[in-house]
Amino acid sequence: MLLLVAAFLVAFVLLLYMVSPLISPKPLKLAGAHVVVTGGSSGIGKCIAIECFKQGAFITLVARDEAKLVQAKKEIEKHSVNDKQVVLCISVDVSKEYRQVENVIKQAQEKLGPVDMLVNCAGTSLSGKFEEIEIDRFARLMEVNYLGSVYPSRAVISTMKERRMGRIVFISSQAGQLGLFGYTAYSPTKFALRGLAESLQMEVKPYNVYVTVAYPPDTDTPGFTEENKSKPLETKLISETSSLCQADQVARVIVKDAVQGNFNSSVGSDGYMLSSLTCGMSPVTTITEGLQQVFQTAMKHEPAMYTIHLLHPTRMQTYYIRTIRL
Ligand SMILES: NC(=O)c1ccc[n+]([C@@H]2O[C@H](COP(=O)([O-])OP(=O)(O)OC[C@H]3O[C@@H](n4cnc5c(N)ncnc54)[C@H](OP(=O)(O)O)[C@@H]3O)[C@@H](O)[C@H]2O)c1
Repeated sequence: MLLLVAAFLVAFVLLLYMVSPLISPKPLKLAGAHVVVTGGSSGIGKCIAIECFKQGAFITLVARDEAKLVQAKKEIEKHSVNDKQVVLCISVDVSKEYRQVENVIKQAQEKLGPVDMLVNCAGTSLSGKFEEIEIDRFARLMEVNYLGSVYPSRAVISTMKERRMGRIVFISSQAGQLGLFGYTAYSPTKFALRGLAESLQMEVKPYNVYVTVAYPPDTDTPGFTEENKSKPLETKLISETSSLCQADQVARVIVKDAVQGNFNSSVGSDGYMLSSLTCGMSPVTTITEGLQQVFQTAMKHEPAMYTIHLLHPTRMQTYYIRTIRL
């Protein structure tokens, strides 16, 4: 009997893998695509822009400091694969005025065509003990890291839905998967992005628009160096338990996942394990993710949910489960 159940399970999983190409999103072609990267003048954002440029994309960089933008543009242009490629720079604060952000996105679309992929990478970090962080910083961090992703996304979404294609990427953090000592101001801003991404993915999936949430680990960037200057000892000690990643390595993973339309993007084995443990009921874009959620539910001994997962083990499951739960 046990052998029969095991054989059935293996056959079932094999069947799922066989049908998985039918249900997976069609990869986005970056050659000739228009990619907007907020926070593209430094660190992870700049490396994402380089990675897309290397694959033939046209780039719009969005950040505040004009000198840094010009410097980044020069660096990115060294990686061109054809002489038609363009890097456009736009200086704006993505967190202040929605109309301003909408206008600059319009300008970028007039020059380089509709946005095929938006990468929301503008962000900033801050660590410190809860009672020692100046009270205004909580709101400011939420403005930059959360609203600074809402505004550009809102500015591109209607066109993406009309064209029935597009990718929106949110750069969260491993601190957006679990709360850590010293991140009472930062973590919630990154958790908020996941909530936004999950809800938005459910709305735009019927329009062939795919959302990716990236959870980078500690990465060697100017932003990380700056944050380290005021990090509490406890946060530093936790941070030191894993190695520091390079920004180009992180960027490659994020671009690959976004192109494939994967909802989750994590780096390395630590990142994979953390994503598996915290996958909850987030949208599923691969069979592996679907199975992870099935087994996670099974481990929690929730028979009703387990049955629903088994009945709908594809990426559609989240729709059913959420509808039933409402
Ligand atoms: N590095 C890490 O260890 C790590 C780990 C996990 C997640 N992340 C996340 O990854 C993203 C990039 O981090 P990073 O380390 O690469 O940072 P970074 O080197 O400091 O770069 C931040 C970029 O965002 C821009 N920016 C900041 N505030 C902005 C605003 N209000 N409006 C427009 N642009 C703004 C900056 O340019 P201007 O200052 O000129 O505007 C810069 O281009 C952030 O969201 C961060 O939270 C980083």
